[in-house]
Amino acid sequence: MKVPMLDLQAQYATIRDEVVPAVEAVLDSQLCCNGPAVRELEREMAEYCGCASAVGVSSGTDALLCSLMALDIGPGDEVITTPFTFFGTAGAIWRTGAKPVFADILPDTFNIDPGGVAEAVTDRTRAILPVHLFGQMVDMRPLLELAGERGLHIIEDAAQAVGATQDGQKAGSLGSTGCLSFYPTKNLGAMGDAGMVTTQDGPLAGVLESIRNHGQGEAYYHPRVGGNFRMDSIQAAVLSVKLRRLDGWTAARQGHAARYDEMLADCDGVSTPVIAEGNTHIYHQYTLRARDRDRLRKHLSEKGIATGVYYPLCLHKQECFASLGYAAGDFPVAEQAAAEVISLPVYPELAEEQVAHVAESIREFYG
Ligand SMILES: Cc1ncc(COP(=O)(O)O)c(C=O)c1O
Repeated sequence: MKVPMLDLQAQYATIRDEVVPAVEAVLDSQLCCNGPAVRELEREMAEYCGCASAVGVSSGTDALLCSLMALDIGPGDEVITTPFTFFGTAGAIWRTGAKPVFADILPDTFNIDPGGVAEAVTDRTRAILPVHLFGQMVDMRPLLELAGERGLHIIEDAAQAVGATQDGQKAGSLGSTGCLSFYPTKNLGAMGDAGMVTTQDGPLAGVLESIRNHGQGEAYYHPRVGGNFRMDSIQAAVLSVKLRRLDGWTAARQGHAARYDEMLADCDGVSTPVIAEGNTHIYHQYTLRARDRDRLRKHLSEKGIATGVYYPLCLHKQECFASLGYAAGDFPVAEQAAAEVISLPVYPELAEEQVAHVAESIREFYG
């Protein structure tokens, strides 16, 4: 039996009848960049995330970059983030000229440790950039308190956490901004690149709208420098169709996760995901810690099962960040996670037999 990490063709087959006319409507309108379909998606996403505004942009990475630019973060500033995330998080900080400062993660959720963030704050810190990794939110309560005390911004990287909640509040609704990615493999994925910035701050939304369009105010007058970070209307039309299915897909992911939890509970060799108090988990990834991880991966691959390692090399050890001066051993919890994590297929369209085959194959490996 084959079990891929994702099956986007299977998903497309279930929505094709709605996607094709939605895309045709954009084609007929020929309003293909930042058009009415983008406005409609912004309205829907603001409502979905419990935010006052949402600004469609070209990718999740650009959502981060636009947020940092809108908050006027640049050379001489420091932004605290996690070393255990997708590269784009720290890459966006670097590209503004600000310095990424890392703080270690918690061993259970893989999310940034608020205690480490507090220790990393200096006079140069302007913002904290927590990443809601794998689909559950960072503990925002201490971070919001710290940010309030020190006058810092919080930019939530919610690329992997659309719809995840903490104490009933959605990812992306608590910081100065929230950044979503609609990369095709995300829980809410476009059919190309797209992203969004959410915010409760009306004037900031106005600045973000200007930044995504070269910092323009009135046509051809530029109070600031921005870039071309506009959203493609075809992507927006696809996403509006998919958004109507998102909660159902999330429930299917949660069902698969519950089955894995159950079947692997007493499997010596792996530990299953921990959900922190007050959180819901949307399982962008279902990530285990595994003894002898690389041999387990090989075993699963021989059984036709695809797996992922997110992420094999922490950001403080990336070659391009050597000048930041970090060394191996600086963030031991993140480094251990990088050596032990393995993500299993958890996409909504998985069949029960596939989930069972994955779990049984893991149990078989550990005897
Ligand atoms: C945590 C995180 N941040 C940022 C990004 C960047 O998003 P994109 O690929 O849409 O630029 C991603 C996804 O790729 C991500 O997983």
